[in-house]
Amino acid sequence: MTKQEKIAQMKKNRDAVILAHYYAPPDVQDIADYIGDSFYLSRKAEEIENKTIVFAGVSFMGESAKLIAAKKTVLMPDVNADCPMAHMVTKETVDRARSEYDDVAVVCYINSTAEIKSWSDVCVTSANAVKIVKNLPNSHILFIPDKNLAAYVAKKVPEKKFIYNDGFCPVHEHMKVEEIKRLISEHSGAPVLAHPECNSSITAIADYIGSTTGIINYVKENEYGEYIICTEEGVRHALKKARPDAEYYFAYTPPICKDMKLNTLDNIIRALENEDCCIEGPDFNVAEGASLTLKRMLELA
Ligand code: 13P
Ligand code: SF4
Repeated sequence: MTKQEKIAQMKKNRDAVILAHYYAPPDVQDIADYIGDSFYLSRKAEEIENKTIVFAGVSFMGESAKLIAAKKTVLMPDVNADCPMAHMVTKETVDRARSEYDDVAVVCYINSTAEIKSWSDVCVTSANAVKIVKNLPNSHILFIPDKNLAAYVAKKVPEKKFIYNDGFCPVHEHMKVEEIKRLISEHSGAPVLAHPECNSSITAIADYIGSTTGIINYVKENEYGEYIICTEEGVRHALKKARPDAEYYFAYTPPICKDMKLNTLDNIIRALENEDCCIEGPDFNVAEGASLTLKRMLELA
């Protein structure tokens, strides 16, 4: 029996579905029931009726699924798969903004721990941040933890005043603009598609900025033969499936999220066999506040 067949059988036995992010390894994406960006996957966690979710992503994704669907069993193939940015803000930053501005909304990127979400008013993902922030009644926005997504949203919503925090995704922040410029000179006419977690030197030269799903949809909806892609390299798999005829160029220094690569077929089998990969969810007080911010996001988006 192949690993894929074993997983299919275990899924049936446990009434489980596998959700995978586009940054998970290709063989994991291939056995997933649903593949998507973080917004799509949180919606799926809410909608699906199976008893068990195996989340091939990083811990904030598994934790969010558990907050959205508290009664379901949520398994992470490797509980050590974490997102460094998800921890990059302090409570002091939030308290300071709340004491300085009466009308501030604390907007929290889904790439954050449940505790950080519980300090916030609403959660967003890169796919819905502009829409949600635009419709908030508040004139001041503290956007946490990502300074790059914050800067992107601030440009799109100039009527609001933004307060920034110094968090970032190491994979996107450290992508080198010189490498992207070299690709532009080598592939003239190829549009540059960037994730909003990239730093401003890259988003400034991008033709399109959007979530992982947004990038894939751009490729589906356009007919260029070459694309320069500024996000994690796992997206290449979905791009190739969507448009096998096109070529995709990523930064020369491979943009790899090592935590996402902890999702392997072997780890998925182990998670389905044992309960030690089960996400418990945070304490009641944190869970209550955090799930409210996520539910608000699902309503407003
Ligand atoms: P998406 O919401 O676009 O999938 O991005 C998630 C992420 O972790 C990007 O680094
Ligand atoms: Fe976090 Fe960056 Fe990895 Fe996304 S790519 S999970 S933001 S470290």
